Amino acid sequence: MGTLPTSLPGGTWTLGDLRVTRFGYGAMQLAGPGVMGPPADHDGALAVLREAVDLGITHIDTADAYGPRVTNRLIRQALHPYPESLHIVTKVGAIRDRQGGWPPARKPEDLRRAVHENLETLDLEMLDLVNLRLGNAEGPQPEPVAEAFETLVELQQQGLIRHLGVSNATAEQVAEAQAIAPIVCVQNLYNLAHRNDDELIDRLAEEGIAYVPFFPLGGFSPLQSSVLSAVAARLEATPMSVALAWLLRRSPNILLIPGTSSVAHLRENVAGAGLPLSGEELAELDRIGR
Ligand SMILES: NC(=O)c1ccc[n+]([C@@H]2O[C@H](COP(=O)([O-])OP(=O)(O)OC[C@H]3O[C@@H](n4cnc5c(N)ncnc54)[C@H](OP(=O)(O)O)[C@@H]3O)[C@@H](O)[C@H]2O)c1
Repeated sequence: MGTLPTSLPGGTWTLGDLRVTRFGYGAMQLAGPGVMGPPADHDGALAVLREAVDLGITHIDTADAYGPRVTNRLIRQALHPYPESLHIVTKVGAIRDRQGGWPPARKPEDLRRAVHENLETLDLEMLDLVNLRLGNAEGPQPEPVAEAFETLVELQQQGLIRHLGVSNATAEQVAEAQAIAPIVCVQNLYNLAHRNDDELIDRLAEEGIAYVPFFPLGGFSPLQSSVLSAVAARLEATPMSVALAWLLRRSPNILLIPGTSSVAHLRENVAGAGLPLSGEELAELDRIGR
């Protein structure tokens, strides 16, 4: 377990029994265009992963569906044997089709196969944390989670998974999963402009469960807001720095996994997330997505 003190903005959080830096790294951007195929710059992708660890980041988010299998293999090539403090979080529940779509794959046999593929591509005997990805590319969908989540619980009982989480989930699905077995995180779409999960974040914070926003910088379409741009200009910072710093201040259970394929952007994001924001600036930013 990572116990090293960190100077990364936001300090650390404990996922179950795993200490991670609140500033993590989302590896999805390392696969090729459309998150399919190899990266344009293979060595550059390895350099980003190594830089993340050198900066002290101990939480990397991935999925076997990225590439597919490309991102996991890059992580393994760049970082295996993994430092003891590093925790790789993966997700199962969707695969890729020939068109680059993300069809759901949540039957018990799909999930078993996906967990074994993640173990193999990452070269691990146990996965630290597996998120069950629900819904579809349009977002969370109201569907039962029991059969799929129980399959992951079985794999956990077999010693293949340490902790469980859910992703792209409604608040009802989060509760449904929690009634079956403990979860340590929820990974959903959330950023300054997309605030659907405000209530869920606060409930999870009270329960000591992490909330991990995906697309913290807007994902494939960068966050655009005149208020964000104005605050950033006043602080002589980038909108991305302000967006990350705001997330760290939003709630102590928020863990950052901004994605980038660039070492320079990774360094910028680490520095930017530590940007001090005044109460006035926080209030101004808070109004963007309301
Ligand atoms: N559970 C799910 O369903 C789900 C869905 C999507 C994503 N995720 C996870 O969430 C993570 C984060 O999402 P994301 O990477 O898609 O979106 P994001 O973090 O919101 O944004 C990434 C984009 O921002 C750009 N960027 C990052 N830092 C920058 C900087 N300093 N200056 C300029 N541009 C910058 C990146 O381009 P460059 O490469 O050029 O820096 C990239 O295009 C993913 O890596 C993945 O692990 C999960």
